[in-house]
Amino acid sequence: MSGLVSPPVLGHLALVGAATEVPLVTGDHTRYKNLDYAASTPALVAVADAVNQFLPHYSSVHRGAGYKSQLSTAAYEGARAAVHAFFDARPDDCVVFVRNTTDAMNLLAESVPAGTSVVAFASEHHANLLPWQKVGSVRYLPAPASAGEAVEVLEAHLRTRRTDLVAVTGISNVTGEVWPVAELTSLAHAYGARLVLDAAQLAPHLPVSIGDLGVDYLAASGHKMYAPFGVGVLIGRPDWLARGAPYMRGGGAVDFVTTDEVLWTALPDRQEAGSPNVLGAVAMGVAAETLRRYGMARVAEDERRLGAYARQRLGAISAVEMYRLWPESADRIGLVTFNVAGFDHSLLAAILSAEYGIGVRHGCFCAHPLMLTLLRITDLQAQDVRDDLRVGRRARVPGAVRLSLGVGSSADDIDALADAIASIVHTGPRWNYALDEGTGDYLPAPDPRSAPPFRFLLSWARPGGGESS
Ligand SMILES: Cc1ncc(COP(=O)(O)O)c(C=O)c1O
Repeated sequence: MSGLVSPPVLGHLALVGAATEVPLVTGDHTRYKNLDYAASTPALVAVADAVNQFLPHYSSVHRGAGYKSQLSTAAYEGARAAVHAFFDARPDDCVVFVRNTTDAMNLLAESVPAGTSVVAFASEHHANLLPWQKVGSVRYLPAPASAGEAVEVLEAHLRTRRTDLVAVTGISNVTGEVWPVAELTSLAHAYGARLVLDAAQLAPHLPVSIGDLGVDYLAASGHKMYAPFGVGVLIGRPDWLARGAPYMRGGGAVDFVTTDEVLWTALPDRQEAGSPNVLGAVAMGVAAETLRRYGMARVAEDERRLGAYARQRLGAISAVEMYRLWPESADRIGLVTFNVAGFDHSLLAAILSAEYGIGVRHGCFCAHPLMLTLLRITDLQAQDVRDDLRVGRRARVPGAVRLSLGVGSSADDIDALADAIASIVHTGPRWNYALDEGTGDYLPAPDPRSAPPFRFLLSWARPGGGESS
């Protein structure tokens, strides 16, 4: 550990699996250092306990007359109320349970009035870029060079083009920078537009008040808020969500059906067709309430200090290049995206995992346009990558490594990462790694690590593959 600053110590919200040991290729075992909270968080112990306590009582919701059904309905609706309270939503805001932030954005995109024109910054996560391609028209603004420029660029756009909806993130999942959501919302409203906030990264790390920010809609994922049970939410103004036919059609969303006519029911059921994810909702409700009681201001303060410590430790390694969109911005959460000179992002991530038991994300983090900007990829290079991808080769896909912190993070985890990188830069890997051209991933060769004996372990599954978020 370096003597740069005295490392901060986080307060405590217990997490499931915090002390899990993982195997290394060297034959040793070590405590898993999870530096990948931005992708998905472990469950809070409070959430796992509540889910276990609830399971014997679990039953269908809403239409069941049985005792367990009624209990389950109460738990499901209680979770809705807890999520409403966590986000400090307005009394008439509707909370719709969906699968995740991506689903929430798609639901909104399907619900906007015909001809809606949307604007989003090109720096958004794909979940807040691509769904808008389904609406009347979408414009992408270039990634701004500062928070102030974001406001200026948006205003210039709103002044010249009729816009109905502004789609913006609360925190970048690539740079950790906190966006000026309240200002952007006032601006949108001044020009008669609504604003949807992608709170996937904001919700787990900073206090969020829909009432204070004034945003019209908010999307968030339970699996990034310590409730990894497959649920998310779209919260906001009911009018667009209550008009026309719902996003998903089926049982539960209706009052009366004949073969000639469907009478859609009221919100939120209207947008929750089919049997809902009751366990997921309960988990998210318990997570929201646990975090609210603990205090998101406390979470934010601890994580900001730990994030500054991480940047300080990585910044002291000359081979490390850290990426940020806004060099002037001081307001960032505990998330750092970086590369190490001489090491492919995938190789570095593989070494960290296989030799040090450190879990990070690597790739383009589902934000390709932003990553192309940050990595200074030329049009010609981008064309080469596209050509490669068309023939199934991923080896040249550019990317970076991301560390992201959460309530279980410690200075020890950061020290482990910084020390590992220093040692990798100095002496190189201690194992052999082979590139899989098809996935673009480096994998230990051979990989002697054994998997724990889960009863449900799928023997064909192996780590790696797919795109990271
Ligand atoms: C900023 C941001 N928005 C949206 C998403 C999509 O979230 P989900 O995969 O839960 O739909 C992510 C996921 O990483 C994200 O970081």
